[in-house]
Amino acid sequence: MLCVSKVTEADDELVSAVVRLLPQLSTSAPAPSVADLQEIVGSPATVFFVLRDGEGGPIVGTLTLAIFRIPTGVRAWIEDVIVDEAVRGQGGGEMLTRAALDAAKQAGARTVELTSRPSRQAANRLYQRLGFVTRQTNLYRYDLI
Ligand SMILES: CC(C)(COP(=O)(O)OP(=O)(O)OC[C@H]1O[C@@H](n2cnc3c(N)ncnc32)[C@H](O)[C@@H]1OP(=O)(O)O)[C@@H](O)C(=O)NCCC(=O)NCCS
Repeated sequence: MLCVSKVTEADDELVSAVVRLLPQLSTSAPAPSVADLQEIVGSPATVFFVLRDGEGGPIVGTLTLAIFRIPTGVRAWIEDVIVDEAVRGQGGGEMLTRAALDAAKQAGARTVELTSRPSRQAANRLYQRLGFVTRQTNLYRYDLI
């Protein structure tokens, strides 16, 4: 049975899980170190969720939630949602996303946002099913590296 938990300490198990899962989301992202992941886990602005195959079982999914206050209120973003190919279609993506929505609500966030390319059909279907609605806005990115 799949289960979701918040990571409280980054360790080698987490690093190897992220290194294994990351290429299923991005072919260009560099693999993070333990220190990089500890920074996410230790920051009050981010919550790192993992999906496990059975309690104490292997990590088969991840999601990072960013929460921050700006003048218009507390806002949240969901990033880097990945579920291992081997366990897709079993509700893991939904569990991770619902856990993030709960945490954002508890933190007082007014909104939770995310982006997903139209070609990510499974992801778009999942988010819409959970109640995310598309916003008409221009999404800009400025590359610094
Ligand atoms: C998106 C992702 C996290 C979903 O994980 P998951 O554990 O399979 O999620 P769930 O089982 O909760 O739901 C998957 C939904 O996608 C649907 N789905 C699965 N494969 C699909 C496909 N090829 N085309 C369309 N829908 C698909 C499932 O039918 C299900 O929707 P439904 O319950 O309404 O039928 C997973 O597919 C993934 O990691 N993809 C690669 C990385 C990625 O795109 N991440 C999202 C970045 S925004």
